[in-house]
Amino acid sequence: MPKVYVTRDIYPEALEILRRGLEVAVWDEDRAIPRDVLLREIGDADAVLTLLTEKVDQEFLDHTPKAKIVANMAVGFDNIDVPACTRRKVVVTNTPGVLTETTADFAFALLMAVARFVVPGVGYVRDGKWESWSPSLFVGRDIHHATLGIVGLGRIGQEMAKRGRGFDMEIVYYDVYRREDLEQQHGWRYAELDDLLVEADFVTVHVDLNDHTRKLFSTEAFRKMKKTAYLINAARGPIIDLDALYQALKSGEIGGAGLDVTDPEPIPADHPILQLENAVVCPHIASASLQTRTKMAILAAENVVAVLRGDRPKTPVNPEVLDS
Ligand code: DGY
Repeated sequence: MPKVYVTRDIYPEALEILRRGLEVAVWDEDRAIPRDVLLREIGDADAVLTLLTEKVDQEFLDHTPKAKIVANMAVGFDNIDVPACTRRKVVVTNTPGVLTETTADFAFALLMAVARFVVPGVGYVRDGKWESWSPSLFVGRDIHHATLGIVGLGRIGQEMAKRGRGFDMEIVYYDVYRREDLEQQHGWRYAELDDLLVEADFVTVHVDLNDHTRKLFSTEAFRKMKKTAYLINAARGPIIDLDALYQALKSGEIGGAGLDVTDPEPIPADHPILQLENAVVCPHIASASLQTRTKMAILAAENVVAVLRGDRPKTPVNPEVLDS
């Protein structure tokens, strides 16, 4: 019976799918699998179901000579050296589509939380500091009718735009691919990145992490943004230079930031950004609803089953391996 190694105890519905025809081994501790254990365990696997915490590089591939598929339970796959997998004819799959709206919901929640001081407000009440209503207590900025600048108009960026429209926001986007169809259909407006940074009250990041987007947001970008603007990131941490962001927030170069992702992850607990009232930092949970995480796990499992059966997986990242 073919064997799949699963690098974390994922949702039972997904394990059930795998167990129907495969031998399934699971790292079932509630922490990322140590690298040495991972390299040992994948030695005889025909498939590996990974999370974004596992680096799939040449060393990984050298330790799993029989593997036909690496199924990542994430839409992002910057943890995977896809060209190396392709050279070895290992299919890589991800989980696009099933997490789009859930991730956009959370990015919008970050936007609202930071603009309206939700987190410091809760802390204030919990700490027993609330003595009376005050005209100047935690005074934030309006979300409705503000300009939402979306960097990256892919699936999640589009959902973010729809949410913004629900709040009567003006939508301006930048993407390497201009979407005139969506501009006409929804009234969204295209701008060059620099212009978007100058204009937007909220800048929300929805691009992949790659060589062009690494540190896309650094001191220079913050200088272009409004001093009152907020930056939201539920994509990948390294797109923002975290130390430069800290300086920009502290010095008032920009108004605030809502981050679901950081570089590094986890962010060290003593990072000074965590002490700022105008920063909300969450532990990479934008896709974390029970429904969505279950769908992600099921899709990853179905991809494994398909490849080991000789069928086409639903969401290949390197389809050229299947076509060769
Ligand atoms: C992804 O899928 O890439 C997210 O970062 C985790 O859901």
